[in-house]
Amino acid sequence: MRSRPCSRPPEAGVHPGMPASPGASPSRWASDRGFLLAALGSAVGLGNVWRFSYVAGENGGGAFLLLYLAMVLAVGVPLLLAEFALGRSTQRESVAAIHGVAPASPWRHLGWLSLAIATLVLAYYAVVAGWVLKYLSHFVLGSYRELRQEGFAAAFGAYVARPLEPLAWHGAMLLLATAIVAKGVHAGIERLSLALMPLLAALLVALVLHGATLPGFTRGAAFLFQPDWRAWRDPAVYLAALGQAFFSLGLAMGVMVTFGSYVAPAIRLPRAALLVALGDTLVAVAAGLVIFPAVFSFGQDPAQGPGLAFVVLPEVFAQMRWGAAVGTAFFLLLAVAALTSMVSLLEVPVAWLLRRSALSRPVASWATGALLFCLGVPASLGFGAWSGLRTPAGRNLLDAMDFAAVHVLLPLNGLLLALLLGWLWPKRTALAASGIRHGALAGAWHGSLRYLLPVLLAAMVAAMVAGSSGRF
Ligand code: PHE
Repeated sequence: MRSRPCSRPPEAGVHPGMPASPGASPSRWASDRGFLLAALGSAVGLGNVWRFSYVAGENGGGAFLLLYLAMVLAVGVPLLLAEFALGRSTQRESVAAIHGVAPASPWRHLGWLSLAIATLVLAYYAVVAGWVLKYLSHFVLGSYRELRQEGFAAAFGAYVARPLEPLAWHGAMLLLATAIVAKGVHAGIERLSLALMPLLAALLVALVLHGATLPGFTRGAAFLFQPDWRAWRDPAVYLAALGQAFFSLGLAMGVMVTFGSYVAPAIRLPRAALLVALGDTLVAVAAGLVIFPAVFSFGQDPAQGPGLAFVVLPEVFAQMRWGAAVGTAFFLLLAVAALTSMVSLLEVPVAWLLRRSALSRPVASWATGALLFCLGVPASLGFGAWSGLRTPAGRNLLDAMDFAAVHVLLPLNGLLLALLLGWLWPKRTALAASGIRHGALAGAWHGSLRYLLPVLLAAMVAAMVAGSSGRF
């Protein structure tokens, strides 16, 4: 492959009949709002809507929430800002941006890890997103009533074990994401986010208002907000909060570096990082206020984990008045959240390919989309035809991919990135790139990158290693 490290990718993705906004470069965000909503669309995903709620529930409710907020502020915001700043100052996608920080040292290869994690995560994320689309169709068509007779748990198990149908929905979700990425940064990703994020907010508000009318609202809210302080004695709770903050903000996967490279010089990055973190957290809390009141109102178990969205909630919706409408709104919300996250993940390998090859954006996008579909096939078959393939701890292929990415690679890459950006990126360059104007704040930001993040993340990696031996 030909290397053109200094040139920006040719942006062939803009449809000839659909010019970018006047004055906007097609591989740049046309507006501050477009960038913010795209970054928020990336952060808000399947992780916010159900993972946050059950992790909070298992780890002391309000006590977890406080720790989570502390982690988002202390670790999430500084790293998010560092990723944006690195992208904008180098104007390159993440592999090249990281290469440029330390071109003469072995650290220059670190960008590959982000690219590998983004690819791995998207491969199985798309499979789960396919399940969401299938369940959306059940609620739109009313066929969820037949599943109820079969029992939602049995129906879900039977569905994911089928060889072909889940692959079709998984492919459909990837087709949508690829079509958006093929159109380009402005005409595809930015326009999608501008259109869908308000829809997502409206659906969420409607669902929370509906939740407030349910008899279990108070219990649900108490479950989420009432602090059980004993939780703070358990180190695992701190790790859970840190891990959730990482995944939910979409850090250490090259996404925010790549998105940062499309940011115009005038945009204020510190404000963007704060707003994205705040918005992402608000969505997570609001999703908890949708899910728990419903779960408590209909006598279900809130600590269901992965089954929650596909087994417990459909049962809850089936018992509800207006269940078809509420279920449709819920799965539409999940599908939109998943799609905007998938688009951001897909942009990472596509931007890399555009820089490293002479391919046009549509060709690079469709080739990457096809490859990712193939990588997801084993994850999907792992529930049926290939369910015999298991890790020593009994994980099927999708769970193993998720575990490797979220529990091992993400914290490790976060640690290495913090070390690289805190120590090898010249401090003056970093401070100038961050756009922080206030001297003390700039010092605090750089200090957290240099000391706080490495210490916290090293502790997390050590705890993971100690706790996970033999669990893979
Ligand atoms: N943050 C997304 C979620 O909460 C997942 C994601 C991770 C998206 C990394 C993009 C990059 O589901």
